[in-house]
This record gives sequence, C-alpha cells and structure tokens, in this order.
Amino acid sequence: MRIYRFDEIESTSKFLREKDDIMERDLAIAKVQTLGRGRRGNRWVSTEGAALFSFVLKHDVEIQEDEYMKLPLLVGYSLLYSLKKIEELDYKFKWTNDLYLEDKKISGILVEKIRDNYVIGIGLNVNNLNLEEVKNIAISLREKTGKVYSLEEVIVTIVKDFYSNFQDFKNGKWKEILKEINRVNYLYGKRIDIVTFDKEESGIAGDILEDGTLEVFVGSEIKKYNIGSVHISKK
Ligand code: BTN
Repeated sequence: MRIYRFDEIESTSKFLREKDDIMERDLAIAKVQTLGRGRRGNRWVSTEGAALFSFVLKHDVEIQEDEYMKLPLLVGYSLLYSLKKIEELDYKFKWTNDLYLEDKKISGILVEKIRDNYVIGIGLNVNNLNLEEVKNIAISLREKTGKVYSLEEVIVTIVKDFYSNFQDFKNGKWKEILKEINRVNYLYGKRIDIVTFDKEESGIAGDILEDGTLEVFVGSEIKKYNIGSVHISKK
C-alpha cells in the first residue's frame, strides 16, 4: 500500500484521479481539503479532525460490469463493519452510501470510475468537533464517545477491511453482505422523496434488493430505484 499524506490538498480523490501511475491500494490522506467533492457535484466541507481519504480499486475483468453497481453499497457495508470494530455503536446504512449515527450523518462516500480504476473517497467524522454549522445533520465519533482517535490507524483499518470484504464479495458472499446491509437499513419504513431526472415522487422505502436497487412503495405500486439515478431525502 502506497500512502500519500497531505496537510492540505484540494481533494484526495482528485489527486488519485489525476495521478498517472495509479496502482491498486494507493491511498491518499489529507488533514484538510480545500475543494472536497461530494456526490452529484456537491461540495464536501469538513472541519479538521475528520478522516479524509481516497484509495484505488482496479477494475477486475473477472467481475461483470454491472456487479460494480453494488460497489458503493459494499464500501458502505465495509465501512460500517470497520467502525463497529473501532467503536461498537448503532450505525445505520443510508442507501446508497451514507452512514448515520443517531439520525445524523457520520460519513459520506464517493465512488468514481476513472479509466480502469475505481477511486473510493471517504469522509468520516472522527475527531472533528466543530460541526456547528451542520450540527443537526452531522455527528463525529469523538462527539459521541469523548475519545480522540489516531486518524491514520482508523483509515488503514478501514482500507484493509475493504479489500478483505471485496474479496468476500468476489467469492460470492453478496447475499450475506446484503442481509447485513438490510439489518441496518436507515431508510426502511420511512417516507422519502425520490428525485429522478424527470420527476419527483414520494413513497415509503423498503428493502435494498439483490441488484442493489431500493424498493419503494409509491401509492399502490412497488418501484425499484437504481443507485445513482435518484436523489433521496427523508421527510
Ligand atoms: C457525499 O456524501 O456526498 C460524499 C462525500 C465524500 C467526501 C470524500 S472526503 C475524501 C474524498 N475526497 C473528496 O473530494 N471527496 C471524498
């Protein structure tokens, strides 16, 4: 694992996206990001003390292209698995790939494909306390436990666990993984708004299905929504 550490950088994901000799397991870590990117082109703003990192997964030709639709879910699952080892708390998985603790966001994940690589970017609230601006929607580990964590240890644990969980995924353990994801499905039973490119609907979220889609009960219909095609907000 090659580790690139930065006191300040625009974005760890951007750094890996633009790197010529990118290799599987390359890991970029930053104390501060000046242009952090979130999903759907949003900015990701975080205060110092958060774990901000990105790492590389090579596209594996043995795995079918559409299997990679599940990658964001797998990253979320794996992150939750690592967090449980670090602090046994009641984390929830919010489809498609945010982690929540006590109804507040503790982590955001951005998976991007660049040529034959996936760059997996994670922002995790660990030691940061200045979450004032986003107090009602964000939480950090330290806020919850009062402890200060070694950011590098936390990050390396998460990244190593990911490659090992990816191996399990490759070896056909998706059903077991999905079962675990559904046990902590934050949206389950909640009324949500689903915004697709051409319309907005409201429904009750159900399970995350085998193909990674979310089942939603819209009126008398059961619909399935794809990762990436929707914006979800809880009512
Ligand atoms: C989201 O919730 O929208 C995803 C946020 C992902 C943020 C992380 S922080 C490290 C990496 N570098 C970035 O610019 N973004 C990701």
